[in-house]
Amino acid sequence: MRKIKMAIASVCADAVKAINENAADAAAIASYLEYPPDRSLGDLALPCFRFSRELRSAPPKIAQMICDAVKDKLAPVADVSVAGGYLNFRISRSYLGRDVLGEILTLGEDYGGSDEGAGKTVVLDYSSPNVAKPFHIGHLGSTVIGHSLKKLHEFHGYKCVGINHLGDWGTQFGKMIVAYRKWGDKDVIDKGGVDELVALYVKFHAEAEKDPSLDDEARAEFHKLELGDEENTALWRWFIEVSFKEYNVTYKQLGITFDSYAGESFYTDKMPEQVEKLRECGLLKLDNGASIVDLSEYGMPPCLILRSDGSTLYPTRDIAAAVYRARTYNFDKCIYVTAAAQSLHFAQWFRVVELMGYPWYDKLVHVPYGMVSIGGEKLATRTGNVILLKDLLNTAIEKVSDIITVKNPALSGEEKAATAEAVGVGAVVFHYLLNNRMRDMNFIMDDALNFDGNTGPYAMYTYARTCSVRRKADSDGIAPAAGELTDESERQLLVTLSRFGEVVDDAIRDYEPSLVTRFILDVCTDYNKFYHDCPILTAEDDDVRAVRLALSCAVNSVLGRALDLICIKKTEKI
Ligand code: ARG
Repeated sequence: MRKIKMAIASVCADAVKAINENAADAAAIASYLEYPPDRSLGDLALPCFRFSRELRSAPPKIAQMICDAVKDKLAPVADVSVAGGYLNFRISRSYLGRDVLGEILTLGEDYGGSDEGAGKTVVLDYSSPNVAKPFHIGHLGSTVIGHSLKKLHEFHGYKCVGINHLGDWGTQFGKMIVAYRKWGDKDVIDKGGVDELVALYVKFHAEAEKDPSLDDEARAEFHKLELGDEENTALWRWFIEVSFKEYNVTYKQLGITFDSYAGESFYTDKMPEQVEKLRECGLLKLDNGASIVDLSEYGMPPCLILRSDGSTLYPTRDIAAAVYRARTYNFDKCIYVTAAAQSLHFAQWFRVVELMGYPWYDKLVHVPYGMVSIGGEKLATRTGNVILLKDLLNTAIEKVSDIITVKNPALSGEEKAATAEAVGVGAVVFHYLLNNRMRDMNFIMDDALNFDGNTGPYAMYTYARTCSVRRKADSDGIAPAAGELTDESERQLLVTLSRFGEVVDDAIRDYEPSLVTRFILDVCTDYNKFYHDCPILTAEDDDVRAVRLALSCAVNSVLGRALDLICIKKTEKI
């Protein structure tokens, strides 16, 4: 659609400029073009009130004037008409059927991508659970928004480095060590995994309420760990290993891997240099024994760098990590995906890095997201009111398994398990990513799993339908070919598909994967209407059949790519 928008805009710009040279250029006009809410009006609309000041005329008159001027010039690709102050464009069937469809067929899953990011590196810091604390649904956002942003940037040609900035350092490890020595049991933890570690952590807090000396003990143990004490280090390593065993199950279900697992502990030896630099820059101030950077001038509370006992904090580690990443990856952007609750933390240390004079301070991007609560569903958890991510995913998988047992009793046990996992996890991810990221959401499992609603299963089912058309065509020896369209639902479907490149641009610009999710639903709606209105492989005319098959294949590749961009595993059969 970018191409045709530019073609329309440049002809319109000529018409407008003929009256006032400075009225608007083609790029501006291209950005004014919108998609009319009522598609029967046209595929694109140009609101002409934008020109009324420069052209000293009423919008409907301007619309008519531009219409007269461009009518013949756009004839092969689009039809123009006036409706009030709007100019409406309808893209021609032959342009869509030959050019657009031809391009999608040629490019396949590459359609909609670009090489705009070639030679540039984007670092993405996401998921990043805290060892020995719950990997809860609050991390769902970071995990799937982060991974989707990575895929989107890759689709634009960026080299991406996905980092799991694991919360593997801090005083909580002192607490864990004390708790484990007092109440822990190796076998129980080896069997029970993270849940048992969390249970120990919870017990520590309950006991420390009664006996505050436990906190001192924990601090001392963490200090020993910082000094490299062998026994404590071995325990710390083991806690991480136990946690990872479980995180990896979740990551595997989600189809997510990382390029680096450098967690907070990785920066232990990299912090002194930055603390020193802060001191040299005159930025460090003592406040009740703690070292801080005063940010009152910027309307923010101070950024804490060192506790009064000299131990480092979360922001200290983030500053050291950013410097390390700048040096190691020479990034064009470094993106952090976390809950909006951490926005202040990022604003603070981003400012500190700027004050330190690092030239890349403006390449740091925080991508926040809203809160999730779970409605209408009881999820078993051993950790009080926190909902674990694995419980959410497993509940979805179980429910989908029940649904497909009824829907498709012929599936073998193995096929069923694989499909239930892909569709269950896909349902959760899709439902989550349908939401504008900043909006708080109440996650209702039955809404996510509704096979007839605007859901992951519906989208995955539609994708599977395009696969089955392709399989059937292959076995019947029918080949797809771009060509003349014969039905309005074919035309509408192609108009929608042709928006894909812009959707990807917008999703990257706004750090908003939900734009892709909503696009997927638009494609599914149009495809299912087309599928209902137009016989594909049973069409009588050879050319019509080949074009419809080509359309179905185009949907297959665009949907396939789009699902992949939002971290959904495609299933060829449901
Ligand atoms: N571990 C943190 C948490 O679970 C998220 C870390 C985000 N990344 C960062 N560089 N601070 O809340």
